[in-house]
Amino acid sequence: MSNFSKDFYWGAATSSHQVEGNNHNDWTEFETKSAKRKAQNETLRQGLRLSSAERPQGKRWPDYILKNYPNPLQEKNYISGRACDHYNRFREDFDIAKSLGHNAHRFSIEWSRIEPEEGKFDEKEIGHYREVIKALRERGMEPFVTLWHWTLPLWVSKKGGWENKETVWNFVRYCEKMATEFKDDVVFFVTMSEPSLWCSNAYLKANFPPGKKNWFSAYRVFWNLHRAHAKTFRALKKINPEFQISITQNIGYFDSILFRPLYYFIILFFLSAITPETDFIGLDYYRRIPFLRKSRPDSDIGWETDPEGFYFVLKKIWQRFKKPIFVLENGIADARDEKRAEFIRLHIEAMKRAMDEGVDVRGYFHWSLLDNFEWENGFWPRFGLVEVDYKTFARKIRPSAWEYKKVIDKLR
Ligand code: BGC
Repeated sequence: MSNFSKDFYWGAATSSHQVEGNNHNDWTEFETKSAKRKAQNETLRQGLRLSSAERPQGKRWPDYILKNYPNPLQEKNYISGRACDHYNRFREDFDIAKSLGHNAHRFSIEWSRIEPEEGKFDEKEIGHYREVIKALRERGMEPFVTLWHWTLPLWVSKKGGWENKETVWNFVRYCEKMATEFKDDVVFFVTMSEPSLWCSNAYLKANFPPGKKNWFSAYRVFWNLHRAHAKTFRALKKINPEFQISITQNIGYFDSILFRPLYYFIILFFLSAITPETDFIGLDYYRRIPFLRKSRPDSDIGWETDPEGFYFVLKKIWQRFKKPIFVLENGIADARDEKRAEFIRLHIEAMKRAMDEGVDVRGYFHWSLLDNFEWENGFWPRFGLVEVDYKTFARKIRPSAWEYKKVIDKLR
């Protein structure tokens, strides 16, 4: 039987670079370098009416996307800048989350703020995150703290980032500091978000900094990330054995029956390497991954949603690991908010079905609380339960956010 008791965590997730604003890290530099080229490429494609699988509906940009501010043809779309100004508005944002019935929230700490120079921790910034955690607790929301969501301090990236073994030790030191500072107020830590997906984007596809395409580097980085997680896990458990620690893993639903076993064998093989050092499995699920067959995109960024696939992935992970699962991301880019309510309803239904069949799921976090800076795509994709006006930073709760609340209220 599913167990949506009072202890079940309902919430939404964000990450520091995507919402805070005014960061200065390796991403900030990467964005600035590539913004002009990206805007020019999109303008050219728009002019030529080229289609692409990554384009909304596989056609040229529809008007509702071009009306977004900033839109994909503008350079500023690709520069995070003030993002959602969440750094200054987190209390207002948490008030909204509370009004939407959330009893938990996942956010990330920005390493580059905490340790802007090697070995020098910034007390003011530590104080900022102390306030963030306090604001959540005051509103009755459990903090789920991600320690690394894809951005590096500049001094780390200048030394070779995750290719350099030293980064492993530097990361552990930063995490120990955070765990020591916040040990009385935080139970759940995610050491790193989707390390394997990040690694392939940064070292094989060149979408993320450092923008490389090198299998040898990717291999090194991947195992350094694993090492960093394992060492952090052990270090944090010494600080407080009660901490609940994991990573998140993005797992899609692979649609080819023929190659499906191989696909999950590979994904679960890598996850198995990390699971001895985890208290739970942090799952990020978004979509079906088409093999050969052309995708039938139903999200603005060309992804194909599939709630049935969510059920499949939950069952698969449970069968393999038998550890509690927290769904730490699940969402859709839908600027017009036409599909989000249905998306949420169907995915939670699928999760409930898996739970009824014995899968131990303990929390669901929608991606995202706010529209935000969507990495290489910039600001135009709209993943938020709450719409952000990037001119005024005004927040507007989308109807689907209230539908999510209805689902939560019904299941509680
Ligand atoms: C990442 C988020 C991102 C989302 C949508 C996830 O894999 O963790 O940072 O915004 O995908 O692309």
